[in-house]
Amino acid sequence: MKKILFIGAEAMPFAATGGLGDVMGSLPSAVARAGNGDIDVRVVMPLYSQISEKWRSQMTTEAVFSLGLAWRKQYCGIKSLEWNGVKYYFIDNEYYFKRDTLYGCYDDGERFAFFSKACIEMLSALEWYPDVINANDWQAALSVIYLRCKYSDRAEYSGIRTVYTIHNIEYQGKYDHAILGDVFELDWWKSVVDNDGCINLMKGAIECADRVSTVSPRYAEEIQGEEHSHGLSPILRANAYKLTGILNGIDYEYYDPTRDSSIAKSFSWRTQCGKYENKYALQREIGLPITNDIPLISIVSRLAAHKGLDIISEMIRPLLNNCASQLVILGKGEARYERFFEELQRDYPDRVRALITYDRDLAKRIYAATDIFLMPSKSEPCGLSQMIASRYGAIPVTRETGGLYDSIKPYYENGDTITGNGFTFANYSAIELGGAAAAAISLWNDEKRRAKLVGRIMRTDFSWSRSAEKYIEMYSSL
Ligand code: GLC
Repeated sequence: MKKILFIGAEAMPFAATGGLGDVMGSLPSAVARAGNGDIDVRVVMPLYSQISEKWRSQMTTEAVFSLGLAWRKQYCGIKSLEWNGVKYYFIDNEYYFKRDTLYGCYDDGERFAFFSKACIEMLSALEWYPDVINANDWQAALSVIYLRCKYSDRAEYSGIRTVYTIHNIEYQGKYDHAILGDVFELDWWKSVVDNDGCINLMKGAIECADRVSTVSPRYAEEIQGEEHSHGLSPILRANAYKLTGILNGIDYEYYDPTRDSSIAKSFSWRTQCGKYENKYALQREIGLPITNDIPLISIVSRLAAHKGLDIISEMIRPLLNNCASQLVILGKGEARYERFFEELQRDYPDRVRALITYDRDLAKRIYAATDIFLMPSKSEPCGLSQMIASRYGAIPVTRETGGLYDSIKPYYENGDTITGNGFTFANYSAIELGGAAAAAISLWNDEKRRAKLVGRIMRTDFSWSRSAEKYIEMYSSL
């Protein structure tokens, strides 16, 4: 039996802020399922105070020890529970993880150094050594670095192979050299983590890991170039021999329009009219005119420029002026965009709703209700929303970058045959986005063609099954 340990800073349904949490909550069980009982999959994350009593009451304490980090010595508890065929471990230390937020604290570097070291020390406390550790994003980078630099001479650890997965290269864990020894205990290994005049944990993990993966094949190529790499392209080019891209999937049980209790009416690609019940229910809920004569467009996104909000804010008024449609926005983020959409709603009171919040159930009601989904990211490692929107029958309009490029192919019609599963554009421009959105609206207005395309989109396979096999191949190759 193979043993795999995922290390990451968040996982659904316990505590999550974004896509990493979705993946850590669904990929491990998909790997376990694909392994047919032959792979022992476990996950480890911090025991944040945000993890509710519902989960805490199911946990057992597996070990308690004190963990040294430079001159500190701290309590470290290991709790666990089983969920979806996977054992989840939680690193307990209230000083580090009883905070108002998961990240964004002044001492994040120290918090995740503690976490990463605890994950490695946990193995000897449990006497359970995995064949492969798959560490994710900057918060877990030090686990790969410590394993290589500080534990490789211990026999029990020497057989462990490592994969380091980049979900977003923008966040690298950059720190001043001053804390190299005092927090990270890496004074002897400065060259491993040193990059561009500072400590860079992601760079160190890329150097130390046996394999580096990222969340789509296209992004694996893109981050080797300057435009998308946030300064790490030379490191990635030098390590290209061990870099792979594997497209994420989505949780097909959590996101299932045929059985989703959080939407007004279940539906499938065969019963698309059920989708319109969801549209009416949402229009009623948010106070838009109830109608299926015009398309309802949606944006569900963090309101940040690189998600395409700058080009959306350029093209959206002309689009609303030229094409009869309604628009709903769900998300929070930069104040300028929050204000922009609030003003837009003021100017188009019968057509636009700006919901400046973050709400997973409401997001599902929006995916189920809307006809067209805009996601024009400037850069997108994978992106999950375009897949969720597709599964709920919203036609995606996306830019050809990263995982958007790999998952959404341009609609093309030749007689009775159609190919593609959305409307896409290449250059990051408001004009191209406007053109693609207008094309989607015009197709939607033709009921027959709409039904055919929406059926095709809803049947596109975005489940984990194929990608889980690819992860297993990668692990086996180590
Ligand atoms: C990050 C990326 C997103 C990706 C997710 C899961 O949030 O920005 O594109 O889908 O991680 O891998």
